[in-house]
Amino acid sequence: MRHLTRSLLLAAAGTTLAAGTLAPAATAAPPDHARGHQDTLRRQAPKDLQIGSAVWGQRDLLGYDRLDPTEHQRVLAREFGSITPENDMKWAEIHPEPGVYHFSGADAIVEFARANNQEVRGHTLLWHSQNPQWVSDAAADWTCEEARDVLEDHVRTVVGRYAGEIYEWDVANEIFQDDWDEGGVRLRTEANPFLAACSEDPVALIGDTFRWAHEADPQARLFLNDYNAEGVNTKTDAYYALAQELLADGVPLHGMGSQGHLSLMYGFDDSMQANFERFAALGLDVAVTEADVRVPIPEGQDGPTPEQVTLHAERHDAMLEACLAVPSCTSFTVWGFPDASSWVPDVFPGEEWATIFTDDLDPKPAYHAMLESLREATPGVSPRSGR
Ligand code: G3I
Repeated sequence: MRHLTRSLLLAAAGTTLAAGTLAPAATAAPPDHARGHQDTLRRQAPKDLQIGSAVWGQRDLLGYDRLDPTEHQRVLAREFGSITPENDMKWAEIHPEPGVYHFSGADAIVEFARANNQEVRGHTLLWHSQNPQWVSDAAADWTCEEARDVLEDHVRTVVGRYAGEIYEWDVANEIFQDDWDEGGVRLRTEANPFLAACSEDPVALIGDTFRWAHEADPQARLFLNDYNAEGVNTKTDAYYALAQELLADGVPLHGMGSQGHLSLMYGFDDSMQANFERFAALGLDVAVTEADVRVPIPEGQDGPTPEQVTLHAERHDAMLEACLAVPSCTSFTVWGFPDASSWVPDVFPGEEWATIFTDDLDPKPAYHAMLESLREATPGVSPRSGR
């Protein structure tokens, strides 16, 4: 796969990459903290599977000194071959005013990745959330043509800036409602300002967004991405039909991302592998893009119970095993660490402990379960692809 070639080239050539408009990269070998332990998630991963983590560049990577990293940066470099901007490439952060772009957080992500032989997943270009106020205000009066012009300019500017540096892009994020929403599973032609302006033919806009991204960076693999998109269900049925429609129309769609935001309040949907396999049968890559497993911890309970710790590990490992079982699964990304920086408690009060590292940056049993599965899956070679 393209990113495989590129990551092998990275390994061979140190960290020099086509610089584009970013600061020239250091050309030395990766720093010690990126080599470090032999036994790490990135080292145990099959050669055709990237193990990644989200990170907030603006918060965690500005001023990164490769010779004096923070402990969090040390773990990020040591354990992960791929990083995803948790927020830095979202509209509200990167394009806060009309014609005004703030690239510092995203640049920090790309430069950290270069320094540590990592790849970058771009996130995200078309979403109903974290749009800046100026988009929300303007969208009220947009014609579809005006919405398309704004979106195309953004896509070409952001994707173009990082062309050659991003191996997978979450182009369209959470574009379907959930089956419990009014009207059930259908495209978000109310909540998403761009789909709303083009509600007469939202699929045409989605397809063009992929075309613009592909023209801006022909190397990047372009994904749909959503939560509650792990197993075979009404939402993934809708994505499966949309994928077929886009592919039939020649849209450069390359993958389907399942976010993997699970909770111990619910069971595990063991149709995850079957869901991956049906998208793979369309010729698409699949990926787990934002894995975490939130744990309900009632007031007064001091942390998870031993049973919850075990289940937390089993759920992370079950998602990884579903990915390892399907050759087209190209990346498995956890949605940041440690728990203190997780989005979960803010959005799901009473649920926490979602990531695979403690706040002391110690690996949890979930980390060890994943490492064991990666170790069993390959001694550096994926039996799935025979390399
Ligand atoms: O940047 C502002 C800052 O200037 C301000 O002072 C501060 C005040 O609270 O807010 C900051 O914005 C925060 C933003 O992250 C940073 O970009 C928002 O409050 C906060 O709500 C927002 O949360 C993010 C969330 O997406 C928004 O929906 C989380 O960090 C992020 O982990 C989460 O990630 C999403 C994926 O992108 C898509 N899949 C679901 C996942 C979880 O919601």
